[in-house]
Parts: sequence; structure tokens; C-alpha cells
Amino acid sequence: MLYDIDKIRGDFPILTREVNRRPLVYFDSGATAQKPLEVIELTDKLYREFNANIHRGVHHLSGCMTDMYEAARERVRTFIGAQCREEVVFTSGATASINLVAYAWSEKFLKEGDNIVVSELEHHSNIVPWQLACERKGAELRVLPFDESGRLQTEVLDKFLDSRTRLVAVTEASNTLGTCPDLDTIIAKAHAWGAHVMVDGCQGIVHGGGRVAERGYDFYAFSGHKLYGPTGIGVLYGRRELLEAMPPFMGGGDMVDKVTFAKTTYAPLPLKFEAGTSNFIGAVGLAKAIDYVESIGVKAIDEHEQMLLRAMTERLSNINGLRIYGTTEGKCPIVSFTVEGTHPYDVGMILDKLGVAIRTGHHCAEPVMTHFGVTGMCRASIGMYNTLAEVETLAKGIERAVAMLR
Ligand code: ALA
Repeated sequence: MLYDIDKIRGDFPILTREVNRRPLVYFDSGATAQKPLEVIELTDKLYREFNANIHRGVHHLSGCMTDMYEAARERVRTFIGAQCREEVVFTSGATASINLVAYAWSEKFLKEGDNIVVSELEHHSNIVPWQLACERKGAELRVLPFDESGRLQTEVLDKFLDSRTRLVAVTEASNTLGTCPDLDTIIAKAHAWGAHVMVDGCQGIVHGGGRVAERGYDFYAFSGHKLYGPTGIGVLYGRRELLEAMPPFMGGGDMVDKVTFAKTTYAPLPLKFEAGTSNFIGAVGLAKAIDYVESIGVKAIDEHEQMLLRAMTERLSNINGLRIYGTTEGKCPIVSFTVEGTHPYDVGMILDKLGVAIRTGHHCAEPVMTHFGVTGMCRASIGMYNTLAEVETLAKGIERAVAMLR
């Protein structure tokens, strides 16, 4: 099928705007993706015509909204390949999802003297919650390193696992280096020791990730806003028996069965983990974003983005003094770089003056920066709507920045 880039770009209203009197060139989809009109219009319609709290009313609007919210859960379930609705918990985002597991899972499964393995590639949100859990429980945090290409060294994973390893936390795709670790091997090795695996799907879900049951993930987290959906909505997938065994994370409305001062019993899954008013409009918007992504085709998007990744890598590699970090085969379409003699913020600010949006800084992955001995990088992350012409605009912008800064 023809990848109709003009039609796709036409679906994203923000792409027609100018920034600093230049056409916007948006290479920051790894931080948050832009939203198609279908998602924007549906969200608007829901607030105008359907807004009412879910699971709480006998009135018409509440019933409609509840039905749409639960249909959204089913949409997410099929998209990620979970086995049942009980395994799909709506949260405010991936950070909330991982913190939920790090707290509730560790209450049940982590004891003094145990250990948790995280990878050196992780975003802070898949490091710090585990550090907190280890501190709380007196457990050890171990770190599986990556090599100079950004490849996770799965061949030494055996040295990090033992009978006290309770969980391995690893990303599906690094937000900084683009690396897609060999999760099949990691999961097989972790499971052989009886450890659980938490997969951070923030970047992966946008690039063909998921298939959670088939791949044997125990937990999976992602945010709606990186998947062309609304902000403030995210998903936690957890294997049903694990979620059943875990205590609640937060207490409040909607997560209870019966409340008395003597004892409270909890709602069945997934509501046990959805205390308070969920972002129900965000959930329905996320389902619409999934519809949109699937209408274009995950495979078609991936092919387009990989073509742009190759072009960007080749073009940027030819810029004098520019170093790209993360050179593994099959990486997701993220290009992090520094340019000799320049500071990433300065490059980012000059690009902004040219209408080009990239991310600069440590990308919430300071251990990756430490590994390479830098304090920050520039990062261009590709979305389904980017073009070859935009790759050229980015490259020319970097060249101009370098000429000004050196
Ligand atoms: N986690 C997001 C990023 O990588 C914000 O930019």
C-alpha cells in the first residue's frame, strides 16, 4: 500500500503552523507525538456532548461514558495482545504504571536480601522506582551494561541473575540510543530464575512493540501521548495472576468493593488499581489514536520511519565533528548526537530559530550520558509524519549552527 505522506501530514493540524516564521519541522516525537485531527475532534466532542463520570451513575451520560471507557480498554487489550481486560489498567502514564508495579509488586514479592536487575539503558522512570523499592525493602539493585554501540550485553546477564533475583526491568526501545534489546533472551533467562520482567514500552509501542502475552512480558507500561493520543493517559499491562496477588497501590473511589471502618475489601481487576476518577476521556482518545495508527498500518509506519532513520543517519554522519550515539542494527528511529566544539543546548536553540524542534539535554537517562562521558546530547526522534525534506532541513540547520558556534 502506498504510504501517502501528504494525506498523513494533512491529518495533523499542528504541522501547518510556523515557528519563528519558518514551517515547523517536528523531530521530537520521542518526547511527545503530535495528535491527528480525529483524536482532537473526538476529545472535543466528548467534552461537549458526553462528559460524565464513569462507573458511578445510573444516568444516561454516565452509562455512555462508561461503555466508551470499557470499549477503550478492550481496544488497548487487542492492540497490545493481552489475554483479558483484567490485565489492562489505565493510569496517568508510563511513569505512574511503573511506580504502581514498583510499589505494589515489591510489597508482595520483594524481601530483604533479594535483588532487582535494571539495564544501563533505562529512562529514569524505569530506574528510580526500583531504587526506591530496593531502599524500602533492603534489596540490591544491579545494572546490566551496554556496549559502545548501545547494545545491551545480554551475554553477561547470567552474571547478574541468581536465585534472589526477583525482577528484571528493561526497555523495549531506548529513548536515547534507540536500541531494541534482545527481550526474548532476557525474558527466558529471567524466567529461568523465577524472576519477573517489567518492560518499558514508551518508545517501543510506537514502533511495533507490544504482543505482551506472546512475548511473555510480566508487566508492560506505556503512555498514550507518545502513541499520537492524549496526554495524561497511560496503560499498565500485568499478568493477571501477578496483579491479583499484589495489594492496591492507591486507595480511593472506584477501587473498592465494600468499605467499613473495620475492614475494606477491594474491587476486582482492573479497577483495584484505578483509584479515583480515571482520565476516561483520555482513554477513549487513546483508543481513537490506536484506530488511527492501525488505519495507516504499524508496518507501513515502521518502514517509512526506518527509511528516514537511514537517511538521517547517513546525512548527519557526514557533518564534520558530529557523533551519533547508538548504532545498533534494528534500532528505533531516534538519532542522538553531539557536535564537537558545540553545546547541545546551543545547537537546539539555533535549530529552534529555524523552526526545527529537537530535544536537548540528558533525556532523563543520565546513566547513558555518564557512560559516554557527556552531560547532554541533541536528539532527533522521528514520527510517522516526518519527511526526507525535513531531514535535509535538520541537517542544514545543524551545519548552520555549527558554523555559528565554532
Ligand atoms: N520520556 C520522554 C523522552 O524521552 C519525555 O523525551
